[in-house]
Amino acid sequence: MEITATPGTDAADEDRKLKARQRELWALGDYHRVATDLLWEFGRELVEACGIYAGQRVLDVAAGTGNVAIRAAERGAQVVASDLTPENFGAGRHEARAHGVTLEWVEADAEALPFDEGEFDVVTSSSGAIFAPHHQTVADQLVRVCRPGGTIGMIAIAPAGLMRDMFEIIERHSPPLPPDALSALLWGDEGHVRELFGDRVESLDMTRKKLLIDRFAEPADLCRYMKANHPLVVGLYKHVAEEPSRVATLDRELTQVATRWNRGGQDGPALYEFEYLLIVTHKRDR
Ligand SMILES: C[S@@+](CC[C@H](N)C(=O)[O-])C[C@H]1O[C@@H](n2cnc3c(N)ncnc32)[C@H](O)[C@@H]1O
Repeated sequence: MEITATPGTDAADEDRKLKARQRELWALGDYHRVATDLLWEFGRELVEACGIYAGQRVLDVAAGTGNVAIRAAERGAQVVASDLTPENFGAGRHEARAHGVTLEWVEADAEALPFDEGEFDVVTSSSGAIFAPHHQTVADQLVRVCRPGGTIGMIAIAPAGLMRDMFEIIERHSPPLPPDALSALLWGDEGHVRELFGDRVESLDMTRKKLLIDRFAEPADLCRYMKANHPLVVGLYKHVAEEPSRVATLDRELTQVATRWNRGGQDGPALYEFEYLLIVTHKRDR
């Protein structure tokens, strides 16, 4: 989908407001805690899948607190970590220092990357760029900043599983998005991803994978954890805070989902499989 808005138009204003809201949301809670507790393996996996090596120039889009970016820098790559929400860069810089690496942190919307055409050998985004609402624009940007023959690697939410169901609840209870905004969950649809990248890429490889989470004693612990830390869940409860019946509905729906996807035994600790889609492709050499 093409964005027809130009600065100064109503559509551009709408988009600016939406991005400001999304930035505010992603700064809530404690994203770095969620990333390191639950999703930190994604960074290692994406860097491995993209075969990142020393000396390459890497852009991590919607980098959060550096999950992928820090691992790429540890391999000796020159890394730029970009994100809509600079409020999280402090935690990222701290984490990078602890890993003994330095990155460049740049505030940027995935739909308008402030980089030159073909500037990067590898462009990554782990469950990040999927949250920008105009998917075609995002795919176009990822392809544009990647050099011909370079690699693009992404992690998306799989079309079934705990993560998918939790995000479905978040989307259903959040304020409605503008009509041209697409759900992040669509990036889990392989046909959609194929269409977005089209013939500008080759060997588009998509693999469904699972991350095992065993840190919660029971489903209620997962829900409490998400309510306290996950930016979008914190934002959702803030949004319905004045309406006790909506708070109760949310509590019930999240607990139902956490219970449904608990793969632990009746008496043992809860065990979750976070299902995701690993996407790796290469920009065609003209
Ligand atoms: C689930 S976090 C993933 C962060 C990181 N990639 C990781 O693996 O931990 C989603 C990130 O997407 C960012 N984000 C959301 N919309 C964005 C947009 N339009 N452009 C750039 N980043 C965006 C958020 O600020 C947040 O840091």
